[in-house]
Amino acid sequence: MSEAVTLERRDGIALILVDNPPVNAIGRAVRAGLVRAAAEIAADPGIRAAVLACRGRTFMAGADIKEFDTGIGPPGFHETFDALEALDKPIVAAIHGTALGGGAEAALACHYRVAAPDAKIGLPELSLGIIPGAGGTQRLPRLIGAEAALDVILAGTPVPADKARKFGIVDAVVTGDLLEGAVAFAKALLADGKGPRRASALTVAPPPDGWFAAKRADVAKKMRGRQAPLSAIDAVEASLTLPFAEGLALEKRLNDAARMGTEARSLRHVFFAEREARRVPGLSDSVQPRPVRAVGIVGAGTMGGGIAMNFANAGIPVVLLDATREGLDRGLGIVRGNYARMVERGKLTAADLDARMALIRGDLDYAALADVDLVIEAVFEGMDLKKQVFAALDRACKPGCVLATNTSSLDVDEIAAATSRPQDVLGLHFFSPANVMPLVEVVRAAKTGEEALATGLDVVKTIRKTGVVSGVCFGFIGNRMLDVYGREAQRLLLEGATPAQVDAALEGFGMAMGPLAVYDLAGVDVGVRIRQERAKRPKGSPGALPDDPTYFLPSGLIVERGWMGQKTGRGFYRYDPATRARTPDPEVDALLRDTALSLGIPQREIGADEIVDRCMLALINEGARILEDGIALRASDIDVVYTAGYGFPRWRGGPMFHGDTVGLPAVLARIQEFRATLDPRYWQPAPLLERLAREGSSFAAWDRSRRAA
Ligand code: 3HC
Ligand code: NAI
Repeated sequence: MSEAVTLERRDGIALILVDNPPVNAIGRAVRAGLVRAAAEIAADPGIRAAVLACRGRTFMAGADIKEFDTGIGPPGFHETFDALEALDKPIVAAIHGTALGGGAEAALACHYRVAAPDAKIGLPELSLGIIPGAGGTQRLPRLIGAEAALDVILAGTPVPADKARKFGIVDAVVTGDLLEGAVAFAKALLADGKGPRRASALTVAPPPDGWFAAKRADVAKKMRGRQAPLSAIDAVEASLTLPFAEGLALEKRLNDAARMGTEARSLRHVFFAEREARRVPGLSDSVQPRPVRAVGIVGAGTMGGGIAMNFANAGIPVVLLDATREGLDRGLGIVRGNYARMVERGKLTAADLDARMALIRGDLDYAALADVDLVIEAVFEGMDLKKQVFAALDRACKPGCVLATNTSSLDVDEIAAATSRPQDVLGLHFFSPANVMPLVEVVRAAKTGEEALATGLDVVKTIRKTGVVSGVCFGFIGNRMLDVYGREAQRLLLEGATPAQVDAALEGFGMAMGPLAVYDLAGVDVGVRIRQERAKRPKGSPGALPDDPTYFLPSGLIVERGWMGQKTGRGFYRYDPATRARTPDPEVDALLRDTALSLGIPQREIGADEIVDRCMLALINEGARILEDGIALRASDIDVVYTAGYGFPRWRGGPMFHGDTVGLPAVLARIQEFRATLDPRYWQPAPLLERLAREGSSFAAWDRSRRAA
C-alpha cells in the first residue's frame, strides 16, 4: 500500500484509510493506493466488508487540482472508483469534514455512505470550470434523480449531512466515533445479509419533458459566457439515455475538454491566487498574529455597520462607536434591518439575529475601546477628521491594539503619523456592501509592523473574507485601476458610444455590471467628490489629477444636474422606482453628444470589441505599473482584487491573467495602436509590460520568477 492509503483489518472488516494532508486531495498516489486496496480486499477471503475513511481534518476534498495542468497520470478516476464499486463485498464510505468533487464521487462509488453530523458533501467542479469527472454526473442522478442531481452540481454548494440523508445521498448520520459507527454499520449490513448496492446498476428517475431545455436557457442567462455548466447538463442528461459505461466515457470527454480550456485554467488560477495572496514574502512564520477577541469600529455608517456584521457573524464582540446618538441609532437600525431580511429569507433564525445583535454594543465614548484588540475606523472620508480620530484612538486603546482605517483613498502613512504607534497602524479597506463583498485590501503603510500586518491578514481570514496586501498609493490596487477603467469608459461616451453600449459590451465580456451602471449604483456623486479631494493634491505628485478637462467630464455633467444614480432615480440611466430596472436616458445621450460637439471631439460608431479592449487594456497596463511600483506583491494578487471586489469574471481569471491569455505581445501591440490613434498621454505602455512582451513572457511567469527569487 502507498503511504497515502493504508489498509487495516478489524473483525473481518477492512479499513481503507486515506492520509494525504492537508485536505486528502486525490492525487496519483491516493488513486494508486485505492486501486491496490480494492485488489487486496477482493483477494482476501477473510475480509467480508470494507470501510473507506480519511485521517486528518476532512474526507477527500477532491481531485488534486495541481495535477490538472500537468495531466492526470494512471490510474484514472474512473478506473479507481470503478474498482471500489466492483467489489463483491459491501463497502461503506465514512464521511467527515467536506467530501468534495472527486471525494464525493469516491463516496458515491461506495455501496453505502455514513456521515458525521457536521459533514458536508458537494460537487463544486463548476467553480473550477470543469464538470464532475469521476462518475458524479452518472452516479448521482441514478441515486437521487436527474433533477436533484443537476441542481446539486449547478449550485456547487456542499449539502449538509442531514439534508444529504433526506436526499438519499447518505444512508445514515453517525453521532459519536465515525469509524466505529461505520464499522458497526458494515457489520449490520452483513448481519442483515445485505451485499453490494451499486449506483451504476440503478436507473435514473427522469425529469418532466422540457426540463433540460429550461435549465439550459436558465444557465445561459444566469451563468452567461460559461461553457462548463452546459457540459454538465449534457452529461447528466446522458445518464438517462446512455448505459453507465458510455455515460462515463462521455463524462470523461467533456471533462477533459473543459479542463484544458481557458475557463478552467482561469478558475484554477483564481483558486490558487486567493490562497497565495495570504503569503507575504519576507513575513516569516515566526511572526505570530495577535489574538483578536474584541473589535472596535468607529463610524456607524454604511461601512461601519456592514463591517460590524462580519465580526458578529464570526462570534467576535464589537463595540460600535459613533459621534452622535442619532448616527449610532441609525447604524444599529440598519444592521438589525439587514439581519431581519436574512431571517425573512430563511438564511438566519430569529435566535441567531438576537445572538448577533447582542454581540454589537453601541457607544459614544472612546473609553469603551480601552480593551479591544483591533479598531477599524470608518468615519467620513476627510484627512483632518481621520487624524483626529486616530489621535483619540492612540490615547484610548491599549498597547498592542491594531488600528486600521477603512479609507478608500487617503494616505495611510499620514494617518499613521497622527499616532505614537505607526507600527500598529494599517488599512483594512472593505468594499460595499461590507457584509457581502468578499474582498479586503490589507494596506501596508511604510511603518506598519510585521505583527500588525499578520494580524490584519489573519483577522480577514477569520471573518471569511479574501485579503490582499496593497502598498500605499492613491486608490490602492483596486480603485487605482478602477480610475483608468472609468476614465476610458467615460472617454468612450464623449467619442460617440452611449452608456448602454459601453455597459452592454463589458457585460458581454463577463463583467457583473457595466461601469456606468456601477456609478449609478454607488452614487455618481461619490466619485466626483473623490476627484474634488484629489484636485487638492499638488500637480505632478502621486495621485494628482491629470491636466485634462475631459477627465471624467460625463460624471461631472450628470451630477451637476442632480442625477446621482439609483438613489435619485436617474444617473447615466433612468430607473423604474418599483423594479429599479434601468433604461437608457435620451436626455443623457443628447447631453453627452452636445458636450462632445462643443469640445470638438468627433463622434463615431464604436464597436463592442473596441470598448472592451480599451477598458481592459487600460486595466492591464495600470496593473503592470502597480507591479512596477511594488504596490501589489504579485500579478495574481491584482487578479484576486478584481475578481473578489469588482465583478470581474472569475472564469477569465482576472485582468492580468486575461492579459496572459490574450498574450502580452498582442496586448502591447493594441496599446501601441491606441497610442497612435487616441490620447497618447493615456496610452503609454508600462515598461514592465513592454519588457515581458518583448521577452515573450507573461505576468504568471513574472510571479513565478519572483517567488523563486
Ligand atoms: N487540490 C490541491 N490542493 C488543494 C485542494 C485540492 N483539491 N484543496 C485544497 N488544497 C490546498 C490549498 O491550496 C491549500 O494549500 P496551501 O496551504 O499551500 O495554500 C491547502 O490545501 C488548504 O486549503 P484551504 O486554505 O482552502 O483550507 P480551508 O480549510 O480553508 O478549506 C476546503 C478546505 C474547503 C477543502 C477548500 O480547500 C476547498 O474548497 N478546496 C477545493 C475543493 C474542490 O474544489 N474540490 C473539487 C476539486 S475538482 C475534482 O475533484 C474533479 C473531480 O471531479 C475529478
Ligand atoms: P457614512 O457617511 O455612511 O458613515 C460615516 C459615519 O461616521 C457616520 O455614521 C458618522 O456619524 C460617523 N462619524 C463621523 N465623524 C465621526 C467621529 N468623529 N467619530 C465617530 N463617528 C463619526 O460613510 P461610509 O460610506 O460608511 O464611509 C466610511 C469610510 O469608508 C470612508 O472613509 C469611506 O471612504 C470608506 N469607504 C466607503 C465605501 C463606500 O462604498 N461607501 C467603500 C470603501 C470604503
